[in-house]
Amino acid sequence: MVAKPENIYPEFDRMLAREDKEALLMQRGIVLWLFGLSGSGKSALANALERKLHEEGFCTKILDGDNIRTGLNSNLGFSDEDRTENIRRIAEVAKLFLNTGVVTIVAFISPGKAHRQAAREVIGSGDFVEAFVNCSFEVCSQRDPKGLYAQAKGGEIKNFTGRDSLFEEPDDPDLILDTEYDSLETCLKKLYLHILPKIRVN
Ligand code: ADX
Repeated sequence: MVAKPENIYPEFDRMLAREDKEALLMQRGIVLWLFGLSGSGKSALANALERKLHEEGFCTKILDGDNIRTGLNSNLGFSDEDRTENIRRIAEVAKLFLNTGVVTIVAFISPGKAHRQAAREVIGSGDFVEAFVNCSFEVCSQRDPKGLYAQAKGGEIKNFTGRDSLFEEPDDPDLILDTEYDSLETCLKKLYLHILPKIRVN
């Protein structure tokens, strides 16, 4: 049963502020929201970026669809409703990390414009970087690193993004990473150069 809102007493003003955490970590927190088709390279980019930032002394956290869906979101599937709830929870979790001053790297398909907009609203535009990991359905299905495209084609997976579940391309993302044409190194460099001024304090 959902608790009655009038019986909930959220308290934020007695807690240490985000700025206190950021001063300790000597960085600024941000949420980098990587989105795109399965197999487009979101996780590869997230992992490569995290390692690079970690080596340079930044405190980071990755939230990745396949990992989170084995724990926090293990009760969710791939219906429109479940994807919306998946993204809602991740946006809230990302905000918790953001408010701890952490460079938070999110890698979820987030197929709808409404999903990305909802995440932006939870996190706040000033702290949200929407990065489209752009790779066509054809190339993702050739890569098929997890064998899921073949299974979807064979009818074993329903509601597969780009096949029988919609992926809406963004109109004006903050950043586009063309993993179809550019190497991982090139995309990583572009991402890093975009992020660095936002997280560096001196
Ligand atoms: S999202 O649409 O709700 O954002 P999310 O990023 O969490 O998706 O999960 C996507 C991952 O789940 C894919 O990378 C893939 O490994 C796996 N997966 C399993 N079934 C599906 C499906 N029907 N559509 C897309 N991805 C699926």
